[in-house]
Amino acid sequence: MFHTGPMTPVEIGWRRPFTSSEANRLHAEAFDTRVFDDDEWDWVALVESNSLGWVTARLDGELVGFANVVTDGFVHAWLQDVMVHPTRQRTGIGIGLVNEVSARVRAAGCEWLHVDFDDDVADFYYRRCGFQPTNGGLLDLQSPIDDPPGAGVVTTRPAEEGDLDAIVALSATARARLAQLEPVCWRPHPRADANQRGWFGLLLNDPAHHLVVSIDGDDRIDGFIVARATDAPPVYDPGGRTCLIDDLVAPSPEGGTELIDAVRRWARTGGCTQLVVVTPTADPGRRALLGRSGLHPTSEWWTGPI
Ligand SMILES: CC(C)(COP(=O)(O)OP(=O)(O)OC[C@H]1O[C@@H](n2cnc3c(N)ncnc32)[C@H](O)[C@@H]1OP(=O)(O)O)[C@@H](O)C(=O)NCCC(=O)NCCS
Repeated sequence: MFHTGPMTPVEIGWRRPFTSSEANRLHAEAFDTRVFDDDEWDWVALVESNSLGWVTARLDGELVGFANVVTDGFVHAWLQDVMVHPTRQRTGIGIGLVNEVSARVRAAGCEWLHVDFDDDVADFYYRRCGFQPTNGGLLDLQSPIDDPPGAGVVTTRPAEEGDLDAIVALSATARARLAQLEPVCWRPHPRADANQRGWFGLLLNDPAHHLVVSIDGDDRIDGFIVARATDAPPVYDPGGRTCLIDDLVAPSPEGGTELIDAVRRWARTGGCTQLVVVTPTADPGRRALLGRSGLHPTSEWWTGPI
């Protein structure tokens, strides 16, 4: 039990009773969906037959938080359906749910607790619950089998002057996302758009830089990459010419791979022996993309208050 306010006790319980109607109402509120009825989503029957357990959070008897945990029965457990009622969010209930799950899963002998999530709750899981980024994958089993993911052709070409507006807009969206993921290194700059437009314009005419765009099916620019060929610092192994990827906005996993391949071809022609990319630790999608492109992490930037 803990308190969200001076006098408001929240009861956190492991494998405690709840009804499917309660869970469906909470799910609809937390994930902003319609309310499923109990025949469609029978939470109680499902968790009882498939889960290692579940955690409930109750405030004055009302179900205000819930988390489900499934397992391979050995070393792995997966956190699912972590949800807190919107009117009770940011009062510590989410952390309470995850802490209870961690303790129970550890007690069950598991070694790893997994979770996947959208960008907007990265802070919650990484900063506040202690999860580390890792590569992961998700296959949409409901996508049509005659149109498998990755079947689309991705087109790339060197950027031109007329592409600058689209590139600056894509860059602004990407920066806003990065600022959410990791504000320490990506705080928004008030003149970012103007500065970037000037900077990208210069790069177009600089032979040491290569700016490539990707094009979607409607001929719109949906991604770009900026690379720079430079001499490696003397401590690099291998030394010689190195290709630094300064900026990358990937439209999709396939588009990202295609952009990196385009840069790699350019860099190889220019005598570069390796690619170097700086990427946010808290961006598992980007890390997965780089991993698929044959890169591996070499070092991390750590930061903390003084
Ligand atoms: C994600 C969720 C479970 C977090 O629960 P919560 O009870 O609000 O979280 P807590 O109060 O324990 O949060 C503690 C800290 O986590 C971080 N945090 C929580 N939610 C956050 C959010 N939406 N954005 C950024 N940081 C967040 C904050 O640092 C917060 O501390 P603060 O309030 O002092 O700033 C809840 O927001 C939720 O149910 N969201 C909708 C459903 C969902 O997306 N679930 C995750 C599916 S994997």
